[in-house]
Amino acid sequence: MIIIDDLLTKSDVAQFRQQLSSVPFVDGKNTAMGMAAGVKNNGQADAQDSRVQQLANLLLSKLGNHPKVISAALPQRIFPPCFNRYSESQTYGYHVDAAIMRIPNTPDVLRSDMSMTIFLTDKDEYEGGELVIQTGFGEQKVKCDAGSAILYPSSSLHKVTPVTKGERIAAITWLQSMVSDQQMRETLFQLDQSIQSLVNAGTAEREQLDGLHHVYHNLVRKFSQV
Ligand code: NI
Repeated sequence: MIIIDDLLTKSDVAQFRQQLSSVPFVDGKNTAMGMAAGVKNNGQADAQDSRVQQLANLLLSKLGNHPKVISAALPQRIFPPCFNRYSESQTYGYHVDAAIMRIPNTPDVLRSDMSMTIFLTDKDEYEGGELVIQTGFGEQKVKCDAGSAILYPSSSLHKVTPVTKGERIAAITWLQSMVSDQQMRETLFQLDQSIQSLVNAGTAEREQLDGLHHVYHNLVRKFSQV
């Protein structure tokens, strides 16, 4: 699980919230596939609405350019984000995300390697509504402030606990990675982050950093499928 703290600024969040307050929302069950529909109880901004499509594209451009998203996901394709809203007592029970998704209005499909939630309401605006992800180390509960996002493997079971007070608004999307192997992707992320911290510390010699960059890019070259 990777938290991205600074994905959206406060003014970005305000803009998304303001726009979302005037678009139609539909029953989230409409877009859930198979067994997920039975446990999904939320509202989703109508993806047929041109204003919603514009918001999705705006968010997509912010995601696709963010260095930490690129480093963690090595994205090849990103699904147009969906905006959802959980009002009081709404919830989404345990489910797995579909492995293959058709990208709307294109002939393309996407393999979901990583799932992402982008929080558009602050933690203290609602109670409950935690994203819970099953991991090899037990259940991890996540609740971030508006503008922050979490990336996690799409292969994991996850749920959103019932909102007991207030309203939870978030965007969700899925990324197909150039590196489908989760362990290799995580290792590449660790290597890239370690190189970045050495660069930022300013203590390593140019030649040493070149050596590490060389290794990183050769690993990406070997393990990516493009
Ligand atoms: Ni899901």
